[in-house]
Amino acid sequence: MLRLIRHARERFVASVSPRVRRLAARTRMAIDVPALEALQERHRAMAVRPVGPFKYFDLATYLRMNARRAVRLGLDRATPRRILDLGSGFGWFAVVCRELGHEVVGLDVVTPGSDGSDLYTDVIELLGVRRVAHRIEAGVALPEELAGPFDLVTAFQIVFGKTWSVGDWRGLLADLRPRLAPSGRLHLEFNAPKGQARAFGDDVAALFASAGASFADYVGWHIVHVPEAAKLPAADGR
Ligand SMILES: C[S@@+](CC[C@H](N)C(=O)[O-])C[C@H]1O[C@@H](n2cnc3c(N)ncnc32)[C@H](O)[C@@H]1O
Repeated sequence: MLRLIRHARERFVASVSPRVRRLAARTRMAIDVPALEALQERHRAMAVRPVGPFKYFDLATYLRMNARRAVRLGLDRATPRRILDLGSGFGWFAVVCRELGHEVVGLDVVTPGSDGSDLYTDVIELLGVRRVAHRIEAGVALPEELAGPFDLVTAFQIVFGKTWSVGDWRGLLADLRPRLAPSGRLHLEFNAPKGQARAFGDDVAALFASAGASFADYVGWHIVHVPEAAKLPAADGR
């Protein structure tokens, strides 16, 4: 009950924060909304079930959500940063960060339909976001072109890694370490499954903690924040 009240309060505070509202409004001005609506209609007409990712066309919700993420990370008060967003989806976080002067590259799975079209690709291209096509898998290195160095690596509403062992996670962290500047940050937000304390086990939590991570719960997400990439595990186990 207390958690629900705290979440409702955080949601309310975030929704009325002038920094968040201003940033969401400013980003919206930079978007070609009629072109986005036309794209939505085109895909809706082709879709077997126009649900799922179609929710991401709700600009009011997703621009505000991503403006809130950027503000929580202090990106509206930071000098230009190089950012990698894993599982970038429609690219809303990248668009908000670009509006703030940051350089962002997304990474996401690309799964074209039988007609060759892919909703995410069409949206991200319309928004002019750079995205690398790749499926994150245990034991598979990220693409070489993502050499960095990045100042920040983010992943919001994480879908990969649900069944990963601590060794699998160590592999991803070690892969990310040389792609991040030594003072770079890693920010992961996991959906908080109902009735489950955390989206990862104690051993994975201990691994994050050994890298100096802080943990927080925020309106339905479990957040893991590593403030200094130099503390991530190295590929050679050091
Ligand atoms: C729930 S959506 C979240 C999108 C975006 N991060 C946001 O918060 O709005 C999850 C995203 O992760 C991507 N994704 C799922 N599995 C992935 C994987 N193994 N590697 C890379 N991206 C993945 C999906 O394609 C989708 O864009």
